[in-house]
Amino acid sequence: MAARLERYLADPLLARLYDAVRAAGPIRSIAVDLTDTCNIRCDGCYFFAEGMDRARAPGSDAVVDAFVARERERGTNFVTIVGGEPSLALDRLKTFYDAFRLSVATNGLVRIPLDGFEELPIGVSVWGDAATDGKLRGGGRVDVFGRALANYRDDERAFWYYTVAPGHAGELERVVARCVDNGNRVLFNFYGDLEGRGGALGFRQGFGAVRDAIEGAIDRWPEHVLMTSRLAEVVTTGTLFGDRWGHASCASVTPDHPANAERVKNGRPYDPHFRAYNADLATTRRCCTAIDRDCASCFDTWQHFSWVMLNLRKHLASAEDFTSWLTTTYLFYFINRLVDRDEGARLLPEIHRRTHTLTGDPTWT
Ligand SMILES: C[S@@+](CC[C@H](N)C(=O)[O-])C[C@H]1O[C@@H](n2cnc3c(N)ncnc32)[C@H](O)[C@@H]1O
Repeated sequence: MAARLERYLADPLLARLYDAVRAAGPIRSIAVDLTDTCNIRCDGCYFFAEGMDRARAPGSDAVVDAFVARERERGTNFVTIVGGEPSLALDRLKTFYDAFRLSVATNGLVRIPLDGFEELPIGVSVWGDAATDGKLRGGGRVDVFGRALANYRDDERAFWYYTVAPGHAGELERVVARCVDNGNRVLFNFYGDLEGRGGALGFRQGFGAVRDAIEGAIDRWPEHVLMTSRLAEVVTTGTLFGDRWGHASCASVTPDHPANAERVKNGRPYDPHFRAYNADLATTRRCCTAIDRDCASCFDTWQHFSWVMLNLRKHLASAEDFTSWLTTTYLFYFINRLVDRDEGARLLPEIHRRTHTLTGDPTWT
């Protein structure tokens, strides 16, 4: 393994990315629902579909403080904050921000202030253009996308976490254009139709058209797209070197949760530190986006990032495979502000140039 790595790292770009990731150090991560409440009801949101809001956020800040102290003691250094809507609990967000490296997902309706959150990576969610997004997330009444654009205009902390459904590929270019015009970068996520809505939202028709549109966005905005075409392929096909996405392979499961007793014994990599905490900060669940849903409906980019990142060994057979692993890992670090931002911004177009040719290579499957 060491000899192979050395050969691959003779490539100056790969050496640079590798050094940056190593310098940032290992991530010991957890996911936390900061609150059980939200100010909108997105159509088919996994949080409400799975009944995750039944775990109530603690009434007392002392419970939050004690949780933070316990997790620091356990060695946690990175927290993905979700919910519920984290911007509705800014005091508690601040407690976490002061204790850990964070990444937060927000619907963007309430601006997370700069003051006190200067270095916070903020993933602002959007599901489509004003019409689609307003219908699916704003209940036909609220222009969620428009308000979030205004809240995060030219805000360097923000990137768009754009969840695309199979039937909405046609609007992808104009949505990304608005995000880029707003001064922000874009990471793609893929709609998981766990409630069986079907139609444009149904995942069984596949994400081929969405991936083609993402390719087009990478060509047009290589400085702004935070996902390689290779990673889009892994997420949407659920395939990693012949392994299939699912509960048996997902790497960001809560290891000591009873639902994962068999999973952690099956020999596939997982993160032994990770836990997905419910809003009560006392109980955990199977993984970030599931209590007991079928993983066939999960196209969650965040979870697929760790599937790739924890499977380094699978990626050592060729320089191309290693490039795929390293660029994915580096992008996760860049998105989360764990590596130098100016350098990341400079390298992003080069990363796309390198990885563009990798998709569809027979060694991938
Ligand atoms: C449950 S939300 C919680 C955080 C915050 N309220 C927000 O809107 O970002 C976390 C992320 O999951 C995404 N999400 C929710 N339901 C989804 C689904 N069925 N398929 C794909 N992504 C989904 C949201 O768009 C958001 O980016």
